[in-house]
Formats: sequence, C-alpha cells, structure tokens
Amino acid sequence: MNYDAIIFDLDGTITESAPGIMKSSAYALEQMQKPVPGEDVLRKFVGPPLHKSFMDFCGLTDEEAQIAVSKYRERHTVIGWKEANVYEGILPMLLSLKKNGAYIALASSKPHPLCVKTLEYFGILPLFDKVVGPDFQNKSGEKEFLIRSALPENYKNACMVGDRKFDIEGAKKAGVTAIGVGYGYGSREELVESGCDLYAESVDDLANALLGASPRVKGLFITFEGSDGCGKSTQLKLLKEYLSSCGARLTVTREPGGCEISERIRSLVLDVKAMGMTDECEALLFAAARSQHVNDVIKPAIDKGNIVLCDRYVDSSIAYQGGGRGLGNWVRAINEKAVNGCMPDLTILFDINAEEALRRRKNATDADRIESAQSGFMTDVYNAFIALSKEEPERIKVIDANGKIEQIQDRVRQMVIDKILTLCQISEKTEG
Ligand code: TYD
Repeated sequence: MNYDAIIFDLDGTITESAPGIMKSSAYALEQMQKPVPGEDVLRKFVGPPLHKSFMDFCGLTDEEAQIAVSKYRERHTVIGWKEANVYEGILPMLLSLKKNGAYIALASSKPHPLCVKTLEYFGILPLFDKVVGPDFQNKSGEKEFLIRSALPENYKNACMVGDRKFDIEGAKKAGVTAIGVGYGYGSREELVESGCDLYAESVDDLANALLGASPRVKGLFITFEGSDGCGKSTQLKLLKEYLSSCGARLTVTREPGGCEISERIRSLVLDVKAMGMTDECEALLFAAARSQHVNDVIKPAIDKGNIVLCDRYVDSSIAYQGGGRGLGNWVRAINEKAVNGCMPDLTILFDINAEEALRRRKNATDADRIESAQSGFMTDVYNAFIALSKEEPERIKVIDANGKIEQIQDRVRQMVIDKILTLCQISEKTEG
C-alpha cells in the first residue's frame, strides 16, 4: 500500500453533509434575526470552522458568531447531523484499507462527539483507529493540531485526505502528504493552489491512490428469505436505502427473476394459468432461472466488490419445492449446479407466525400460482425454513418479524453491519 497511516477529513470527504449544515446555519441566522444568505454562500459553511464562517461570510462579530454557533448546534445536534450520507464507494475503500492493515483516523473541525455519532450512525466507526475533533468549546479547531493528534505514534508514510484548503494547509504544516478530493466542497483550483501533493477527482481515484495494487475486499452476498407475507421485501427496501447512505455499492435483485431470461421464466412459473405444471417442472424452472441469474447478475456483482441484496434464493427452493411440494433432497441436488458454488454470506430469515402470515396474504389481492397452493403447503414451507436455519446457524440468521417495521429494520442493520465487519476481521473497538 502507498500509505500506512491515513487521516481523513469528515464533511465533504467521507460524508456529504451539506444539507444538514446549510439548513442549520440558516436556522442560526434566522434565530438571531440576521439576513440569511443564498445557497451559494451557505454552501461555503461546509468544511471550515463555523465560527470563522459566520464572521467571514455574514459579517458577524466574534461575540455574535459565538451565539450563532450555539444556535446552529441547537438544530444540528438534533436533526441536522442525520441530513447526510457517506459518499458512494467510501465503505468498500475503507474496508480494503483496513483489510490491508492501514491505520485510519479522522481529523475533523466538527465537535468530537458529533464525529463519533456520525460515524456510528453510518456503521463505520469500528473502521477508525482514532477520531479527533475539537470539543464543543474549542471554536477554531486548528487543522494542523487535529492532524497531529490523529497520527499514530509510529508510521512510515502518512497522508491527510481532505476537500478544502484548510485540510491541505494543515497537512503541510503537520508534515504529511496532502491529498485533495474533487468530489467534496472545494474546487480543484482551491486544492491545487493551496499546494496539495495529489488530487483525486472521484472516490475511485482516491481508492487507487491510497491502495495502489493492494487487494480490494470482495463483495458480500446477502439473501432475504421467509414465508409469503413475512415482510422481507419491505425490509430489503429499507436496508437498501440505509446501506446506500453508508457509502456501499449495491446490487439489488430478486428471485425468481433478476435478469431478462430469468424474468421470463418468472412469468411462466408464477402464472396462475399454468395450473397443470408438475412439481418437478416447477422446481427445475426455479433452478434454471437461478442458474442464469447467478451467471448474469450475482457473480459479476460480487466480483466487482458490491454488496448484493437478493430477495429470495436457493433456500426458497429447498423450503417451497423441497418441503412444501415434498420433493425433498432432489431439490438440493438440482440447485447445486444452478448456484455454482455461489452461496450467500448471510441469509436473513424473517420468522412470522402462521396466523399473521395468513392474515397478510388474505389482504393481498394478487396471489400468484405458488401462493394459491393448499393451506397445509405453507406450514410445510415454514417448517422447512426453520429446519434449514438449524442446519446452518452460521449463515442463516432468524429474525422475529412480528414486531414494528422500524424495530425489525434496526436488527437487520445491526446483523448486516456485524457481517461486513467480521468478513474484514475487524472487531468493534475504537479509541479517541
Ligand atoms: P416473491 O417474489 O418473493 O413473492 P412476493 O414478493 O409476493 O412475496 O416470490 C414469488 C413466489 O415464488 C413466492 O410464493 C415464493 C415462490 N418461490 C418458490 O417457490 N421457489 C423459489 O425457489 C423461489 C425463489 C420462489
């Protein structure tokens, strides 16, 4: 790797936090009955110390700026800090750096507690060896000082990555390589003029600059399973939104289907008009669709390093055709070729009691051919899923799906974040 110690700025480098910062700055000025400048000026608040911005851009006195900062915090600490997201591609880059043994730290002008809260919210706090930010009283938060205290005791080649001139100037004063990123809030001119040693236009450019030829982490394959009406599709959608906000690169797909040929098989296999279909034909069609899907979508996405979220996979065949239709182990045999060694790293099984599932299904108007099967069928499917989870407890994690959507989602997120971290052999520890 090109660097063994990497210090990151937060706003505009790790997180796209402009919406929350701009709205909270405007709120502070409104509260003080000062004129609120336009978006172009508010945007400049992202990055530099706030106190200075209120003085420089709004003409506030030192004393007024202090009041403005406290008003800003009133809003930002409650809602503003969540009006953000991690730039796409940051998560796999951090994971790869960590996997290759880099020391990673944060040096931000944001108050330390807020830095920690933000990294924690997006699930990336355990990837940082140290988090440095001023306390709420420190109004200037000199970057050089922050960078110096973020550095480890021993290092060979350290760099600071940031999007504004403050980061570059701070890095130079602290004696480390200065890398400017063009996807944040500073312009290329600003970064070059302040003397950055290296300029990275995109997150991919940055990853290449930091990692060189070192290996990248592979993707992650997560499947969602459960009886019809268990709520897995709703949970998958929410997880997708959350993981995107965490800077992950995602491929979201479903079975049967997910690519052109498999979607055509889907219309046939779920068609209520295909009532004469034998159970064996049904099982082979699901396996056929899967084989194409693995080849066209799932494998390429994992190889690219993406996190793949798939609504149903091979466990559905084992439960529905193996258990529900009573075809048994033959279903596993035909699927061995279809999955071609591509098994999920994590399967989340949504466990819902039979009555609740039935109630939800009754409310749905458009039952497909499988959902229209006899009522005993669903009990067999359910039992097969539970048996599978006992057979493979490491891969298949059961979630009680009878509660509130938000509570279930919290558990799903925790499960997925834990999986991402264990795959990179990172334990939950952070100092600072
Ligand atoms: P799905 O799209 O998950 O339906 P819904 O979104 O309505 O829950 O799945 C369609 C149906 O196909 C569902 O009843 C389960 C069934 N199925 C199998 O029987 N075997 C399989 O291998 C798969 C993937 C699905």
